[in-house]
Amino acid sequence: MLMMPLAGLLLLASSGCGESAPQAAPSGDQQVSEAQARALYIRKCSLCHGDDGKLMASKSPDLSLSDLTLEERMALITYGKGTMPGQKDVLNKAEIRAVAQYIERFRD
Ligand code: HEC
Repeated sequence: MLMMPLAGLLLLASSGCGESAPQAAPSGDQQVSEAQARALYIRKCSLCHGDDGKLMASKSPDLSLSDLTLEERMALITYGKGTMPGQKDVLNKAEIRAVAQYIERFRD
């Protein structure tokens, strides 16, 4: 559990090596790989939601039971809600979309 955020960071850092594309493009249109989406999730979200979306720390809901649409999830991730921090100054739009799509895998 404690190691996971670190692993995510390492993954992010190493995925930039050998590529000419910048890590965080200013535009929201770049492609975010599944590995990058996973690293972002581990780094930004697993603290409360856990690796499988079911941790429910800090009174967060079980993501595997969530039935929000992609748009609703993107809005929630962008602006935050309650104790959940918004990511609009941290992640670009493509990254927010990728993370919102990534968490669909937690649904049963
Ligand atoms: C500090 C703890 C915390 C972090 C970090 C966090 N969340 Fe949350 N999340 C919450 C809480 C608390 C709620 C419930 C908000 C409410 O309804 O008041 C929530 C709600 C959600 C929901 C809505 C689920 C539903 O159906 O109601 C989604 C989706 C979600 N979070 C995804 C994410 C993603 C993706 C990240 C990373 C970018 C993230 N969260 C980071 C605490 C957190």
